[in-house]
Amino acid sequence: MEFSHIPVLFDETMEGLNIKPGGIYVDGTAGGGGHSSGILQRISESGKIYCIDQDPSAIATVTKKFENNKNVTIIQGNFGDMEMLLKERDVEGVDGILLDIGVSSHQLDTPERGFSFHEDAPLDMRMSMQGATAADLVNNLPVNEIAKILSRYGEEKYAMSIAKGIEKARNISPIETTLQLAEIIKNSVPQKVRREGHPARKSFQALRIAVNGELIRLEQGLEGAFNMLKSGGRLAVITFHSLEDRIVKQTFAGWAQGCTCPKDFPVCVCHNKPKVKIVNRKPIEASQEELAVNQRSRSAKLRICEKI
Ligand SMILES: C[S@@+](CC[C@H](N)C(=O)[O-])C[C@H]1O[C@@H](n2cnc3c(N)ncnc32)[C@H](O)[C@@H]1O
Repeated sequence: MEFSHIPVLFDETMEGLNIKPGGIYVDGTAGGGGHSSGILQRISESGKIYCIDQDPSAIATVTKKFENNKNVTIIQGNFGDMEMLLKERDVEGVDGILLDIGVSSHQLDTPERGFSFHEDAPLDMRMSMQGATAADLVNNLPVNEIAKILSRYGEEKYAMSIAKGIEKARNISPIETTLQLAEIIKNSVPQKVRREGHPARKSFQALRIAVNGELIRLEQGLEGAFNMLKSGGRLAVITFHSLEDRIVKQTFAGWAQGCTCPKDFPVCVCHNKPKVKIVNRKPIEASQEELAVNQRSRSAKLRICEKI
């Protein structure tokens, strides 16, 4: 199956990264290589791009796409380990980093990856194809833990009711497929919810976040990115839901904060200085033109900061 993914906020990201021809760049979420290609086109012979992805199928795609290109280094790994992955390759500092968080359209549209509640497939959801699957979680975690995941990562109002539905079903036989789980969720929520979009949407998002440790990896990735940026280097992060955007917003705000002394202190004693400049106070969202051609861009938010 061909890798189909339209890069979101492409022009805005290229502009936001302020690409220098001879610079060193990292695409921490290479996917189908759309944004990476844009960076590659903007760097010169002396520039370099490191393309990281944890998904073996994304790695196979970008390896083929950038075959024999000496400016590109492909790394299969987690961007949460970015600092280690780059330092292992003797990279000490970089000029720009992009994180385009979440799943690709390719992952969503490949039924056997188990991300979609529209297609019947094994309940997997692992981007790296390693570790515990979504089926492992729903079949083995205590009910309270499942409810906590659904509530925290999916902001699902009926989290406990769905968790109890899962427990009841798994006591009869293990939950193994996406449609099996989608049906259990549908039957665990009130009738009216069934009319407001697909009732499994929030729970599937929550399980995907838990399976891939997405929020903790994002926090680690931001920290690693900050450590790897040279002074004047830029970090651009695209998120697709409020939990992720909140982490990016708060992390950037923490870095940008100078003095943290209480307001009534006559002089500063903390001597904290801002570590970054926030490039866009409000997140950049997709234009009407982009929304018309790519529905997936509707929830995308781009934030950019520059290391001082
Ligand atoms: C939205 S897609 C990126 C698409 C890409 N910008 C493009 O233009 O094709 C997200 C990609 O990030 C990868 N990914 C998500 N979280 C990751 C993580 N923590 N470490 C490494 N890769 C990750 C996914 O496997 C997926 O391929």
